[in-house]
Amino acid sequence: MSQTPQSKEAIHSAVTSIYGAVAQTRNLTKPEATCCGSDKLSLADYSPDEIASVPLGAYLGEGSGNPVRYAALAPGENVADLGAGAGMDSFLAANQVGPTGHVYGFDLTREMVSFEQADIEHLPLADASADAAISNCVINLTPDKRAVYREIFRVLRPGGRLAVADIVLRGVPEAVEAFRESGTAETWCACVSGALTENDYLAAIREAGFADVQVVAERPGQLQPGGEVHSVAITITARKPA
Ligand SMILES: C[S@@+](CC[C@H](N)C(=O)[O-])C[C@H]1O[C@@H](n2cnc3c(N)ncnc32)[C@H](O)[C@@H]1O
Repeated sequence: MSQTPQSKEAIHSAVTSIYGAVAQTRNLTKPEATCCGSDKLSLADYSPDEIASVPLGAYLGEGSGNPVRYAALAPGENVADLGAGAGMDSFLAANQVGPTGHVYGFDLTREMVSFEQADIEHLPLADASADAAISNCVINLTPDKRAVYREIFRVLRPGGRLAVADIVLRGVPEAVEAFRESGTAETWCACVSGALTENDYLAAIREAGFADVQVVAERPGQLQPGGEVHSVAITITARKPA
């Protein structure tokens, strides 16, 4: 096992290597999750109708929730999907915003890109250009979560909404710190050892300027090796003040 990558470049390299392989080897008719819990948990997030409504291959079972369900999208809206992967949530969002709206899907991994390759710490979108931002099991993989939330705040219009599914850690602070420090490139890319504690994660969203930060859904926690820390998939909504 390799050590936890220390630099931003090393984290990006580990992420693109693992998710590039996922995109190229995944069985499109029977996706199996490599992170964020089991296939069963991922499948429970989407209805059969939702899965049938997207192109074959868009659903890879790599999410930690269903943020589109909580994004309250309306026809004509512009939506940014951060870490779009193969496009599952982008396509669901596109069905809701319709032909007069637009969904911009961004991903670091070239093979995973449905729409545009980009690092979500630097979104290629103008200030205040999006009505809503969604993201599913991605921000825990980034080196600087606070920078990502500042960037989302920048691209949302005043009153714009955020709906994010992601992984957070629960446990006593010392145990969480020890768990994070014992991480490897593999556990980072499996969406666990790069995750923040729930308190730190919610604080990062508030510090970026968001209001009404709420946890609206949660999967059962997964006990991590060592027996003291749970990783939990939560879905959060928030609003940029008008
Ligand atoms: C667990 S997958 C989730 C994909 C998708 N959201 C879904 O639900 O199927 C994580 C994705 O985040 C992307 N990713 C990780 N760090 C990123 C970054 N800094 N910028 C853009 N995409 C990133 C990876 O390339 C990968 O496609």
